[in-house]
Amino acid sequence: KRLAILASGSGSNAEKIMEYFRNSPKGKVALIASNKSDAFVLERAKKFSVPTFTFTKKEMEDGDLLRKLQSEKIDWVILAGFLLKIPVALIRAFPDRMVNIHPALLPNYGGKGMYGMKVHEAVKAAGDTQTGITIHLVNENYDEGRIIFQAATPILPEDSPEDIANKVHALEHRYFPEVIESMI
Ligand code: GRF
Repeated sequence: KRLAILASGSGSNAEKIMEYFRNSPKGKVALIASNKSDAFVLERAKKFSVPTFTFTKKEMEDGDLLRKLQSEKIDWVILAGFLLKIPVALIRAFPDRMVNIHPALLPNYGGKGMYGMKVHEAVKAAGDTQTGITIHLVNENYDEGRIIFQAATPILPEDSPEDIANKVHALEHRYFPEVIESMI
């Protein structure tokens, strides 16, 4: 199966996925696409000789990204830290074939604006004793797509939002590649 990863930032998840599928018979990361031409994820793609594609929000909304995914014969679209709202036409082109990872235990802390450190600050402020990751299919209601996998980690009172972010990233890197492999 041909995978495309959409990412807007650092791409540590994308790197783990490229690493995991490097010699896999089941899947191949065929494209890394980003809406940020300076996103570090593009450097990571070069290291793995994975083709890249950058686009603007407008180009995405004009269908350029969808046409690129179709011309590359992509089977699955993986969102790994992608910060734009996916156009409905793109979601509809990959029914039950678009996967997102969210750095919290949905349905808690979902929705717009909950990205980056914001979600970890909210979890800390709420005094939660655990947080985690959610891997889910993307449907037209975004964070409400079918949940495929969740993993939790305890939060200690002395944990800072950064400590929480590090624990969540560790869960993402540990599980995201395997969960993708179990789906494709
Ligand atoms: C991850 O925390 C992911 O859950 C969220 O965005 C972050 C991406 O991190 N959607 P990276 O760019 O993969 O390092």
